[in-house]
Amino acid sequence: MDNRIQVALIGCGGMGTKLGQSLGELGTARIAVCCDIDEARLSAASEAFSPDRALTDYHEALDNPAVDAVIIATPNYLHASMAVDAAHAGKHIFTEKPMALCVADCDAMIAAARQAGVKLMVGQVLRYIGNFAKAKQIIDSGELGKPFAIEVDRINNSPGRGDWRTSKAKTGGMLPEVNVHELDFMAYVLGEPVSVYAQSGHFGANAYDFDDELFAIVRFEGGGIGSLHASFCAKIGRYHTKILCENGAIFFGHAPGEAIIQRASGEPETLDSSDVPDPHQRELGEFLDAIRTGAEPKIPGEQGRRAIGMCEGADISAGTGQVVRLPL
Ligand SMILES: NC(=O)c1ccc[n+]([C@@H]2O[C@H](COP(=O)([O-])OP(=O)(O)OC[C@H]3O[C@@H](n4cnc5c(N)ncnc54)[C@H](O)[C@@H]3O)[C@@H](O)[C@H]2O)c1
Repeated sequence: MDNRIQVALIGCGGMGTKLGQSLGELGTARIAVCCDIDEARLSAASEAFSPDRALTDYHEALDNPAVDAVIIATPNYLHASMAVDAAHAGKHIFTEKPMALCVADCDAMIAAARQAGVKLMVGQVLRYIGNFAKAKQIIDSGELGKPFAIEVDRINNSPGRGDWRTSKAKTGGMLPEVNVHELDFMAYVLGEPVSVYAQSGHFGANAYDFDDELFAIVRFEGGGIGSLHASFCAKIGRYHTKILCENGAIFFGHAPGEAIIQRASGEPETLDSSDVPDPHQRELGEFLDAIRTGAEPKIPGEQGRRAIGMCEGADISAGTGQVVRLPL
């Protein structure tokens, strides 16, 4: 008998394929069904994962009693309706970030999962990636004291591929599509956000129908402050994070070996993040553990909602020029 958790992969594009591979590597679950409306992608995923069924209509995957759980890796605007349908069908849900495009949709997902008694986990994977995971580990050890400020600079020259990613209706804009990662990480470190203020504009000659340049300032319950500079239209690329704590600071880029810890007394030291486990295996492993043990997932719907509230609040603030109180 196969004791592995049987998973339907809905959306077999770049991210779905990566998640399917990571799930297989864990050994405790398998992709039992692949689902994509694009025949070529469906066929490539079927070759990679040897599922029992390959489907173009995800409803058929949800009707399959052999399926225990779904991974949703479709374009952002589909996450909410697919998750609600999956919950109604009694399937556990792992959804890629962003959880949804607005908090109202997050609420519907959370309510549907709760009512059905299924697990809902959101793939805010940045928390588990190299330097970010290492920085959080150091902060939790207490050696730098309380963190109080985080600054993230994530700027790119990103002209857009002309697909769903350039549409605000399909992505939610720059924040849900990309920087929901950084906003979630700020809350992971600094706690509950209480307000956000943002200014944004459109400066690039690109395909995006939404603002491609934004500054946001977030205030957190314990008094901490987060600052995000996000851009798709910079002519240079830079991704840098700075975390200030009572007794020192951590600075890092994205690549291994690019993180520095600077204690109040002493020389700067490079942080070794080579012992950080594979981030996608970790998030999926935690999802499977929650299914197996009945425990709450490590990144539950409420935390996905919190990050979407920060994105939506920033969008409202950028449109009105006002500070927006959180949670929405
Ligand atoms: N965690 C991360 O760092 C990370 C990185 C990249 C993408 N993502 C997220 O993953 C999701 C997918 O992104 P991607 O890069 O794989 O996009 P993609 O365009 O490569 O793949 C999306 C797939 O969904 C399929 N699809 C669309 N409508 C469908 C439907 N009704 N039923 C079944 N399949 C359908 C498409 O045909 C496509 O194959 C997005 O929400 C994105 O934000 C997360």
